[in-house]
Amino acid sequence: MQTKIEKISPLSALAIKNIEGTEGEALDFLSFREKLSYANISHPGKKTEWRGARLAIKEALECIQHPYPGFFKDEHGKSHPMDNYGYVSLTHTMGLAAAIFHKEMPVGIDLDFVREKVVRLGPKFLDPSEMDFLDNDPLHYTMAWSVKESIFKCQGKRGISLRQNILLQPFDKGARIVKGKVYDTEYTDHHYQVQLEVEQDVVLSYTIW
Ligand SMILES: CC(C)(COP(=O)(O)OP(=O)(O)OC[C@H]1O[C@@H](n2cnc3c(N)ncnc32)[C@H](O)[C@@H]1OP(=O)(O)O)[C@@H](O)C(=O)NCCC(=O)NCCS
Repeated sequence: MQTKIEKISPLSALAIKNIEGTEGEALDFLSFREKLSYANISHPGKKTEWRGARLAIKEALECIQHPYPGFFKDEHGKSHPMDNYGYVSLTHTMGLAAAIFHKEMPVGIDLDFVREKVVRLGPKFLDPSEMDFLDNDPLHYTMAWSVKESIFKCQGKRGISLRQNILLQPFDKGARIVKGKVYDTEYTDHHYQVQLEVEQDVVLSYTIW
């Protein structure tokens, strides 16, 4: 997927970053706590992904002239700005990282490679009514998976099931906006719109307002 930095609105921006070869990029912008977290990651691949996501969020913030606040993780694993101003979401996968920031609304972002096995895994993350409208196609299933992951990350709470608590409205493979809701939980009837971008075998999704 192409590297890009995009101002979605004056309040929001995202960045997609190719993370191979970012070893030399300065990390002095990180908070003390983040530097410690980074130093404690021993797996080289995980280190590269962690670094890539922080470089991506820094670039997204620069695009809307927002100073890097440093981020901390809550008990669910979701990151929050240390100054409590705004919302962030991060994603990373082989060779790529992406990040989104919104000054006023919660956000979720997800990057996935299209994999054949996602169709077989469908019953684990899809409601039967969703499988009815999805073609038997890895791309279509990956789009559904990614949208659900973005909604999950936007709401941020562990214990929400992709299959039982997130329901998507029917969409086709050409769709670039998908609607879904969180239901049957204490967060019932939260509705989301998710933007999709597909480039070769990579699907990017992120919540929009
Ligand atoms: C937490 C989860 C969304 C992470 O997704 P992933 O595809 O493994 O990884 P990604 O690279 O897209 O995202 C990783 C980032 O998600 C963020 N994250 C972790 N937990 C989060 C949460 N509860 N809410 C929001 N964001 C979260 C973190 O910032 C993490 O990056 P970091 O560790 O560098 O800080 C995922 O593991 C998950 O729990 N999904 C839903 C649960 C589920 O039902 N899974 C099984 C269905 S079959």
